[in-house]
Amino acid sequence: MTETYQITVDPIGAEITCREDQTLLDACLRAGVWVPHSCTHGTCGTCKVEVIDGEVDHGASSAFALMDIERDEGKTLLCCATPRSDVVFEADLDADEEAPSHAVQDYTGTVTTVQDIATDTRRVLIELDRDLAFDAGQYMAWQLPAARADGKDGVTRTYSMANPPSQTRVLEFQIRRTPGGACSDAWVFGDLAAGDTVQLAGPYGRFTVRMGRREPAVLIAGGTGLAPIAAMIKRVLLDGANEHGDGPSHLSLYAGARTRAALYDVELFTELAAAHPDRFTYRPCLSEEEVTDTLAEQGFAAGMVTDVLAADHASLAGHVAYVCGPPAMVEASMKTLMSRRLFPRDINREEFLDESNRADGGLRSPLIKR
Ligand code: FES
Repeated sequence: MTETYQITVDPIGAEITCREDQTLLDACLRAGVWVPHSCTHGTCGTCKVEVIDGEVDHGASSAFALMDIERDEGKTLLCCATPRSDVVFEADLDADEEAPSHAVQDYTGTVTTVQDIATDTRRVLIELDRDLAFDAGQYMAWQLPAARADGKDGVTRTYSMANPPSQTRVLEFQIRRTPGGACSDAWVFGDLAAGDTVQLAGPYGRFTVRMGRREPAVLIAGGTGLAPIAAMIKRVLLDGANEHGDGPSHLSLYAGARTRAALYDVELFTELAAAHPDRFTYRPCLSEEEVTDTLAEQGFAAGMVTDVLAADHASLAGHVAYVCGPPAMVEASMKTLMSRRLFPRDINREEFLDESNRADGGLRSPLIKR
């Protein structure tokens, strides 16, 4: 019989139960107790906590994310650790009133649409078996069928929702193909079709738009990093205020791709900008294709998103920023934003990594996607 243990989360003193084959992170999130996490795969170190009492099995924690000396000091990674006794741990829980707090649950989804939207990029719509409560910017874990994961159960890939939270039943995902990837290449770009069933769990993550902050926001997206950013924009423009406020007073979207063919939803954002001229501006940027006069008239700019942003703004003091894309773009964005007088505390970011990044030793890997 599977043992169950009691887990105490300090400093808030929350008490939950956890099976011996369940990670502490999974038990916390399913009980609605928010604890820091990002990659959920033992590589980023975000979920590191101190075990005050009790025994855990450290599971598949990477030696980079949890060093031997840290294990000896009683640290563990919540996303990998399973209990071997009752456990008390202390986490660094900030008092952010807007931190997401929706309990993670399992859902069964039915694919309704699979659509090519840009070079090696597909939109997948999935209708859930019941409503999902989430915050704009959060993501779901797709369960890979064992037959697609070398016979292994429990293998997941994470994808952000691009729909606003008001759309609770049908989720939109934007998925880029990673050559050789078991989920994107073999499944989403293979035989995934309308009518297929997908098992999902979520919502995860805290890269979410803060409705309580009124400062104007700059949103920078590269590739399918546009998905969570799109959810945030729709949240602010279309869903209206919540108990914290009505969000940033203005949104400026810088969406980058190498070519026009690699950029998607241009019409959608152009229409949103036309419908909300005082609240939203859209700047599509092409880094490897000439911007013709026709494209320039449509608002396209030539260059990397960071270069276009730097040319557009001498100072961004008083703004907040949301950044999502490949690690190199996120890093370049940080540098540009800080050179334009934004403090790190005002920059919210999420990096999208794939298996090639992980092979590089992507220790920062917040979201492993394949
Ligand atoms: Fe646990 Fe990344 S190491 S969430």
